[in-house]
Amino acid sequence: MSHLEIRGGVPLSGRLRVQGAKNSVLPILAAALLAPGQSILHNCPRLSDVEATGKILRLLGCGVEREEKTLLVDASQPTGWTIPDPLMREMRSSVIFLGAMLARLGRAELSYPGGCELGPRPIDLHLAALRSLGAEIVEEQGRLRCTVGSGLVGRELCLSIPSVGATENAMLAACGARGTTTIVGAAREPEIVDLQNFLNAMGARVSGAGSPVVAVEGGAPLHPAEHTVMGDRIAAATYLCAAGTAGGRLELEGAEASSLAAVTACLQEAGCEIKILGDRIALNSRGRLRGIRPVRTAPYPGFPTDAQAVLMAALAGGTGTTMFVENMFDSRYRHVDELSRMGADIQLAGRVAVVTGRPLHAAKVHSTDLRGGAALVVAALGAEGVSQVSGLEHIRRGYEDLEGQLTALGAQVRLIH
Ligand code: EPZ
Repeated sequence: MSHLEIRGGVPLSGRLRVQGAKNSVLPILAAALLAPGQSILHNCPRLSDVEATGKILRLLGCGVEREEKTLLVDASQPTGWTIPDPLMREMRSSVIFLGAMLARLGRAELSYPGGCELGPRPIDLHLAALRSLGAEIVEEQGRLRCTVGSGLVGRELCLSIPSVGATENAMLAACGARGTTTIVGAAREPEIVDLQNFLNAMGARVSGAGSPVVAVEGGAPLHPAEHTVMGDRIAAATYLCAAGTAGGRLELEGAEASSLAAVTACLQEAGCEIKILGDRIALNSRGRLRGIRPVRTAPYPGFPTDAQAVLMAALAGGTGTTMFVENMFDSRYRHVDELSRMGADIQLAGRVAVVTGRPLHAAKVHSTDLRGGAALVVAALGAEGVSQVSGLEHIRRGYEDLEGQLTALGAQVRLIH
């Protein structure tokens, strides 16, 4: 099993273009299924989750070619409507295909995504929204058999939680429904806006993304489109936290500063100097971040749950005390045990984690999930000595060439096979 060997205490410096957003390219790839013909998607990161999504599209009879950072998706004649169990297990967010398959194919068969390292990942809001649009969904032996009956019909939907995935599934299905769908209580994440922009480029009529009410005038004939995926705000947050704890000067390009304002505000409070220069974010840090006011994860524009682990890792090696409250997922503190092996002082009580900063030392640590793994890398960059981080398959799901990017910034990171 390969691992990263990281010598900490080396300041980072340089400029980095942030990868395309994993959580935007996945629903946009599902949306490409909606139109006959070839869509062209730029700024698609090389991630295992993106490759898995490409596998699903090919299984459905679509063509998927990669040219550098561009994906060409040809959905002229889809032939399949089933996502096999192993692929659903490989990537639970494959459930995002459900709405697009119902809209284009009129049917879909896939298994329950099941839980993951973050705890249970229910899809009740997805299923309720799709059933409200007229989908007939039979659940048996863990498989979902879905049809559109006499066709999807637009109507008002209410989401009791601003679920990102449920909002996206409802938008995609609504494109294939007769009449107008209004999604009340929609998620407001920037990735929802990116999806709206791609759908409208395909000829759909979607409005309101980024606000709690998204409207879709369904039934418009859709055509392929060309689109550039937005920058990954969580990857950007990760690199900023890395420079924050290791110290140094980092300039990020390609991420919209407003999309990670909650994170940059925390880093500024912790002692980093941050300047926004157009679409560039410049950070200057002397390392050894200080404790900040409580960090409570919340739906956008609140503090993103996906950045909780990496900010915790950066603060754990600093000074002072910070309280985290993880409100979005039931078990998103699995990185805490591993950080403790590096000397971190983190006390857990249910959703609350109290971090008391202190110098960290190198250790052999293992990733158990995507963002938790990134947090171990961040902590190692600020720790004294040479750490080993294994479980890289988790990190590869969401970070494109993490070790290459960090090395280019002066970090001493080596991939050991
Ligand atoms: C998306 O997951 C992201 N994934 C997650 O990023 C992110 O953490 C999450 O949104 C929250 O921002 C992708 O976009 C591919 P939710 P999603 O539905 O859509 C509950 C990463 O690290 N819920 O907004 O699955 C759910 O249990 C990943 O990149 C229901 O109860 O998240 C959670 O507590 C991890 N019923 C809350 O809502 C449902 O039907 C928010 O989940 C759906 C969700």
